Amino acid sequence: MVRETHLRKEDLIMPVFITAKSGVKSEIPSMPDIYNYSLDTVDEELDRLAEVGMKRVLLFGIPAHKDAVGSDTWHDHGIIQEAVKHIRKNYPDFYIVTDVCFCEYTDHGHCGVLAKDGELLNDPTLENLQKQAVSHAAAGADMVAPSGMIDGMIMAMRDALDEAGHESIPIMSYAIKYASSFYGPFRDAVDSAPQFGDRSAYQMDPSNRREAMVEAELDYNEGADILMVKPALSYLDIIRDLRNSVDLPVACYNVSGEYSMVKAAAARGWIDEKRMRHEQLLSMKRAGADIIITYFARDIAPELD
Ligand code: PBG
Repeated sequence: MVRETHLRKEDLIMPVFITAKSGVKSEIPSMPDIYNYSLDTVDEELDRLAEVGMKRVLLFGIPAHKDAVGSDTWHDHGIIQEAVKHIRKNYPDFYIVTDVCFCEYTDHGHCGVLAKDGELLNDPTLENLQKQAVSHAAAGADMVAPSGMIDGMIMAMRDALDEAGHESIPIMSYAIKYASSFYGPFRDAVDSAPQFGDRSAYQMDPSNRREAMVEAELDYNEGADILMVKPALSYLDIIRDLRNSVDLPVACYNVSGEYSMVKAAAARGWIDEKRMRHEQLLSMKRAGADIIITYFARDIAPELD
C-alpha cells in the first residue's frame, strides 16, 4: 500500500540481435542466454518473448558486409528492414523499435562518415541517418532510436520522416550517452569496436553531469519524443536530473556490461541473480526512468505478473 515504486513488464524493452547470415544461433560468450540469431532462427527468441508477454523489442542488425559508410542501413533489403518485415508479418502485436546507428555497419566501427584523417563528419552522417530512419519506418518499424549522439540528429530525422509521410513514428533519442566501458560485451556481439581511436569526441565524458542536461535540451528542442540515458546503473543521478528537468518520458539502457557483471557473479554463486536484477531495475525506476531497455526483460517478465 505504501510502496512508491513498481517494476512492471510494460516498462521493459528487450534488445534482439539479428545477423544477415543463415542458420545462426550463437550465444554471445560474455552474455549468457543472449544470442545472435539469423532470420530463419529468430522465431525461437520471439516465441520465448511472446510466451512471457514481452512484446517490445529493440532490434540490432549485423549486416552481411560492412563498408565505409554503412550502406546496408538504408538498403530496402538490409538486415533490419528484413527483420522488421518478418516480425510485422509473423508477430503482429509486437512493438518494434530499431536502433539507428552505423557502428555495426561500417568497416571502421565508427558511428558515421569519416574524413580522411579519421574524424567523424557530422553533417554527411546526418544525411545518411535520414535515409536509414525513413527506410526503417517504411519497412514497418514502430519507433526509431538513434544511438550515435550526432549533433542535429533528431531534427534531421524528424524532418525526413515527416516528409516521407511517417509523421506518427516517434523518436527515442539516446540523448545522453556516455563514452563508457560498459558497452564491451555488446561490441563483441556485433563486432562494432572502433578499429582505431574511440568515440569520446561524440559521446559524453563520464565526469560530466551538467553537460548531460544540455544534451537533453538540444534533443528536446529538436522534437525527440523520449529521452534516454545510457548506461543506467552508474548514471542514476543523471536519470534523476533528467526526470526533474523534462516532462517527456525518460528511458534508460541497462547495457551489456551491466548484464554481464550480474551473470558472471551469479554463475559463481556469489550473488542472488533474481533478487539483484530486480533491485537494480527497480533502482532505475526509482531514479525516474519510465522505460528500461534491458537484456533481463525476457527472464524477469514472468516474475512481474
Ligand atoms: C550503438 C549502440 C551501442 C549500444 C546500443 N547502441 C554500442 C555502442 O555505443 O558502442 C550498447 C548497448 C549495450 O552495451 O548493451 N549502435
